[in-house]
Formats: sequence, C-alpha cells, structure tokens
Amino acid sequence: MAEEIEIKEGLQGVYIAKSEICKVDGQEGKLYYRGYKIEDLANYSSYEEVCYLLLYGKLPNSKELADFNKKMKEERVIPENTKDIIRKFSKDSQTLDVLRTAMSSLSADDSKPYSEDENENIEKAIKIITKTATIAAAIGRIKEGKEILEPDNSLNHSANFLYMLTGEKPDKDSEKLMDVMFILHAEHSSNASTFATLVACSTLADIYAGVTAGVAALKGPLHGGADEAAVKMMMEIGNPDNTENYIEEALAGKKKIMGFGHRVYKTYDPRARILKSYLDKIKGNSNEEINALIEISLRAEKMMIEKLGKSHGIWPNVDFFSGPLYMHLNIKPELFDTVFASSRTVGWCSHVIEYWRNNKLFRPLEEFIGKIDLEYLPIDKR
Ligand SMILES: CC(C)(COP(=O)(O)OP(=O)(O)OC[C@H]1O[C@@H](n2cnc3c(N)ncnc32)[C@H](O)[C@@H]1OP(=O)(O)O)[C@@H](O)C(=O)NCCC(=O)NCCS
Repeated sequence: MAEEIEIKEGLQGVYIAKSEICKVDGQEGKLYYRGYKIEDLANYSSYEEVCYLLLYGKLPNSKELADFNKKMKEERVIPENTKDIIRKFSKDSQTLDVLRTAMSSLSADDSKPYSEDENENIEKAIKIITKTATIAAAIGRIKEGKEILEPDNSLNHSANFLYMLTGEKPDKDSEKLMDVMFILHAEHSSNASTFATLVACSTLADIYAGVTAGVAALKGPLHGGADEAAVKMMMEIGNPDNTENYIEEALAGKKKIMGFGHRVYKTYDPRARILKSYLDKIKGNSNEEINALIEISLRAEKMMIEKLGKSHGIWPNVDFFSGPLYMHLNIKPELFDTVFASSRTVGWCSHVIEYWRNNKLFRPLEEFIGKIDLEYLPIDKR
C-alpha cells in the first residue's frame, strides 16, 4: 500500500530554520526583535538603531550608532542608472513593480554582489536599506510628475524619506510617526516575503537577488497589499455612518476584510495596537478625509472584534490602521506596499546573513498525482 503523505498546505506549522532575529508570539500577541519588545523599540528607538540591532544582534552604544548613522547617510544616493529605470516606467505602473526592477538594478552598482564575508554582506545590507528608501521616494515623485530629489543629510532616515517624497521637511510628530511605521514594518520572522528571500539566497544567489524575490512576494493583497486594500475599503465606505452596514454585508457575502486575520497571531497584533494609539492621537486633527477614514477604521475594528475576534481568532493586523496613518504623512495608497518593502529590507537582509551561516538549499517535495507512461502520439494523431 502506498505511504500516506501529509501535505502541509502553505507550509503551515513547518519550521524552516533556527533564528535569533524575531519572535512572534501569536497566542499572547507579543513581538520581539532580537529579544527587545516591539513596544520599547517603537517608543524609544530609532529606525537606524533598529536596523543596527537586527543586523548585528545587539543594541549599539553611542559611538557605534553615530558611525552607523554616518554609513547609512553615505549610502543614500542612488545610481543614475537606477533613476533612469524609475523614470522610464509609465506613471500608471504599479509602484512595487518599479521598485522590483530598480532593486534588481542595484547589483549592477556592486562589483562583487555575492560575498561569503558576513561584514561585507552587512555593508551590502546597509546599501540596500538606505537606497531602497531613496528609490521608494523617487517612485512616489515620478508618479506625481515631479523630479527626483536628492537626500538631505542633515535629516535622519525617516525625516529624509518624507523630505525626498514630499519636498518638505516634516515636523517632529510626523518624523516620529514615520519612524514608528518603519520600525513596525522592519521585520516579522519567516513570512512569505522573507521566505522567498531565503529560498532565492539558499541557492547562493547574491543578496540583491534575494531582496528582489522578497519584493516580488510582498506584492499580493494577502501580504504587502493588504494595507492599500484596507484603506480603499474605508474610502469605499466613505461616510463613517455606513461602516457597520458595509461590514455586515461584506461578512454575509463571505468577503474577507483586509487588515484582519493572521497566520500566526490569533489575538490582537501588537503592531496594530501601537498604530491604534497613534490614530487616537491624530483623530480629529488631520484633514476631513483622513479624519473620516480614522473614524471608519475605529468603528470597523470594534465591529469586527465583536463578530470575529474571540469567536474566530480574527483580529486587526498591522495593515488595518497603517493606511490612514500613511495618508496623514502624505503617502498615497499606491505607494504603501513600496514603503513597506523599503522598511522590510533590513529584516530580509538580516535573515539571509543568518541563514548563510548554515545554508541548506530549499528543495521541498510535491506528491505527484498525475498520470505516467502515457502513449506519445504524433501531433496529427491527437
Ligand atoms: C492573512 C490571512 C491570509 C491568514 O489567514 P490563514 O491562516 O491562511 O487563514 P484563512 O485565510 O484560511 O482563513 C481562515 C478562516 O477565517 C476567515 N478569515 C480570515 N481572515 C479573514 C478576514 N480578514 N475577514 C474575514 N474573514 C476572515 C476565512 O474566511 C476562513 O473562514 P472559513 O474557515 O469559514 O473558510 C487571512 O487572515 C487574510 O486573508 N487576511 C486578510 C489579508 C491581510 O490582512 N493580510 C495581511 C496579513 S499581515
């Protein structure tokens, strides 16, 4: 009798590696980067410091952070070739498609894209993290028919990103909010895009090839596209008073509400909780459109928790509240996934560097259920 094969659909419940980078506690709703609570990092840290932590495995001292900040600033400028690639896409192109191509082009600017040396790979990671933010801002500018802006090295990573995107230096509150968005999206263990990055790099393809695969995997609405889909739903709801009817009808029609549910979290996503605290601060203080979106998001969250929270384990995830917050920062929905990808480059690179210490080519199996030994007929006899 044939052996019974158990197929783990979507690799659910399958461990692929040991890692010290990120712990997601889906039952308790806790998230740690290198052992540090996400709440502490969001409150007290900067994106640069979190990048250092993820890449080197420890928090930097003042000198180490100053040196790291300097290195990050030095890498901000993108090659002319990459700018040309961004300009050549049509304004209607999807921003993540442009990023995927521009990201891939970065390897051409590196005379030795593949290295076995961990320090050299950290240098490549710093290049990728910083240049991707410049690319994301450039894509946003070109999409609006504006010229690409050069980085302003008097600003930190987040403020400089907003400056390169909008042409205006942000105030302290916006800078902090952008930093928190970058931090919360920096890493999330072996999700689909990180896994895609690891699969590519397990062949010993270079780190640029890996992050390009990561960008590709991030595109769909089940992953990086969820925040845009969620805010578009809020826009469709339009008037806050329509929220409850809309959700009721969507659920009755078996529609998924984007920004809810998670493969690992079966309780409130701690990142969503942090974002909700920012929404509470901004509520009523943004423009009319965003104030309405915030009200819709809070009413939808209340209703979804009542209907599906405890009973089905479907709670808000990081993508539900991101949309109104990005929009408050003048980031348009079509750029959300690209900004997310830019934040996540550090997570992808950290995982590749760790995985290469004990690399094993990914090569899972399929249970073949097709036919074999069929008679091959010439084309005129079929
Ligand atoms: C993220 C996601 C793919 C993880 O789900 P999963 O572990 O694969 O679980 P499934 O998609 O199989 O869903 C399990 C059940 O919950 C329901 N469900 C899951 N997410 C839901 C949502 N957002 N809204 C309504 N129902 C949902 C499914 O319809 C399914 O119901 P059924 O058992 O009656 O068929 C899923 O929750 C989802 O599609 N969410 C929306 C997209 C999103 O926000 N993605 C970003 C994640 S950070």
